[in-house]
Amino acid sequence: MIVVKLGGKVTERALDYVLDDAIGKRHLVLVHGGGNFVSELSNKLGVEPKFVVSPNGIKSRYTSKEELEVYTMAMRALGEKIALGLEKRGVSALSISGVHGGLVLAKRKRQIVVLDERGRRRVIEGGYTGKITHVKAQVLTQLLEIFDAVVVSPIAFDAEEGVALNVDGDQMAYEVACALKAETLVFLSDVEGVMVDGCVLRTLNPTQFEQLSQKIGAGMNRKVASALEALKKGVSRVIIASGMKPSPIKKALMGEGTLITC
Ligand SMILES: Nc1ncnc2c1ncn2[C@@H]1O[C@H](COP(=O)(O)OP(=O)(O)OP(=O)(O)O)[C@@H](O)[C@H]1O
Ligand SMILES: [Mg+2]
Repeated sequence: MIVVKLGGKVTERALDYVLDDAIGKRHLVLVHGGGNFVSELSNKLGVEPKFVVSPNGIKSRYTSKEELEVYTMAMRALGEKIALGLEKRGVSALSISGVHGGLVLAKRKRQIVVLDERGRRRVIEGGYTGKITHVKAQVLTQLLEIFDAVVVSPIAFDAEEGVALNVDGDQMAYEVACALKAETLVFLSDVEGVMVDGCVLRTLNPTQFEQLSQKIGAGMNRKVASALEALKKGVSRVIIASGMKPSPIKKALMGEGTLITC
């Protein structure tokens, strides 16, 4: 079993490489991002995308009720596009989100702390983003007996409030990989791997990550943290590699990118 997370830019600019590489594979789970696609659709529909900045300086999308509808539309459309591309190549695929069958459960963040325009901390209503609490692994395992590949959009279900939630794609990928006890989790992004001082690290362990974290920026920092968490919870191998070139999955499995180790 292999779980591959496709970053937003990979789905935008290099999707065919990934889809070609999926030919002949079975037991494949593809989790996708797609922030730019959400913003693009938001603009087309006249819903201005809003972003907030956390106290440690990380910018993220603010998902109001209206934005959640756009987010869901955009991400589901992208999931369908990926499944279509797989089917076209003879890979039978199902596109779902975490809402279907309550596959991925999450809890809404009721309040979040953000920095306002003057850099002051403010507590605001959390909107429709959440943290994943449970993945029904058995449902996914059964689907993978029927389909060669399952495409999972980063939308989860909050059973308590009965709403869909925007969840982080990296978190979705690692939670799915952990629940499935996947052998391998590959994060395909728009960079060659984890870079420090202009070089790609071949391997990265928790001690090195602690020492180097100042040199690793926002998007990647979160990804490495997710990768380490996946290893801790039993995924055997986690790789962060480029999805922007031909055969990206094969190349990552053969040693390109950064291998995260315990
Ligand atoms: N030390 C680093 N090494 C590599 N990339 C880094 C580093 N520090 C910051 N980054 C940034 O992290 C980005 C990757 O994370 P990002 O969240 O943007 O993409 P993704 O997770 O692949 O896609 P998405 O968030 O759309 O699912 C790179 O494009 C790069 O700009
Ligand atoms: Mg990201």
